[in-house]
Amino acid sequence: MSLRSDRKEEHLALAQMFFHNHQKNSLDQMQLLRPALPETSVAKVDLRVKMFNKTLAAPFFINAMTGGSAKSKKINQELGKIAARENIALALGSASILVKEPEQFDSFYVARAANPDGVVIANLNPATPASVAAKIVNELEADALQIHLNVLQEIAMPEGDRDFYWLDNLMEIRQKVDKPIIIKEVGAGLDYGSILRLKKAGFTWFDVAGAGGTNFAEIENSRNPEDQSYLEEIGLPTVLAAKMAKLTNTNFIVSGGVRNPLDVFKGLVLGGKYVGISNGFLQLLEEGKLATAIPQWKEELRRLYALFGVEKTAECQNCGYYLDLPLLAAWQQIEQE
Ligand code: FNR
Repeated sequence: MSLRSDRKEEHLALAQMFFHNHQKNSLDQMQLLRPALPETSVAKVDLRVKMFNKTLAAPFFINAMTGGSAKSKKINQELGKIAARENIALALGSASILVKEPEQFDSFYVARAANPDGVVIANLNPATPASVAAKIVNELEADALQIHLNVLQEIAMPEGDRDFYWLDNLMEIRQKVDKPIIIKEVGAGLDYGSILRLKKAGFTWFDVAGAGGTNFAEIENSRNPEDQSYLEEIGLPTVLAAKMAKLTNTNFIVSGGVRNPLDVFKGLVLGGKYVGISNGFLQLLEEGKLATAIPQWKEELRRLYALFGVEKTAECQNCGYYLDLPLLAAWQQIEQE
């Protein structure tokens, strides 16, 4: 096994160790307003959404995690099967490892092989050469490409990158890849200014991947002999990141700390086109419960739509909400900036 593929397996183990499903996050400080007379029926609720020209059964999806090691091959294969059976989208983990270790290709492709007609999204780091990015997207038969911006994670890694001039390369990738590109964070949140800069550079899809769930500063810190635990509090909470994204008038996905169908619904209320779940689904998979959890989430989400007087996903953003004082105060300060 190489160092890179060792790191992939370590991340999987540490994601489990640092998974706190009941940990509070910004989504708990967002309160929904509910009509007592919703004039809806669960039977009439339609969860279906279009994503990159394909119709999916639900607006939530399995967000980027793994690939590039023996264990991740097994995980991707199982995720691919579940995504196919449930007709939900699946994003693969970073395939940048293929630049140096092309023999790891199958650990990603197994998911596409298991899900030939569904939405499968490739994932790369922002420094990947554009021609390689185009080749990987093509070979994985991906419907779209996610590119992750993970500066906080790199800074927290002793062996991490220290150079972050990415914009020129991102624009080259934009030129060479003929599929939609989603720029995402990895759990520390995309901010307003960066989305606007990327929008000017021609990018139209973003995944806020905010703080409140998987915390890579915490994960990397546990692998690091030096204590840099102070980095763990730096992320931008998911609700604030989503509200920033909304102001940029772009297409965005809400993710980061989504624990249950109510969090999915809140992500849609915030204006997310889709809602991504990573570690929560990984832990359910490890417990052998993901295959039954997904249909259960769909059913619970249908009930929530009816509870809040909504029958179609696009209507969720008309639902009213308010923020608890600490989050509201933070948002008001941000808005004044
Ligand atoms: C991730 N994440 C991630 N993101 C990415 O863009 N490329 C990657 O390769 C990975 N790898 C990865 C491995 C593991 C084990 C986890 C748990 C997560 C980040 C992920 O896509 C997501 O942005 C964050 O995990 C926040 O979402 P959750 O976990 O709070 O739902």
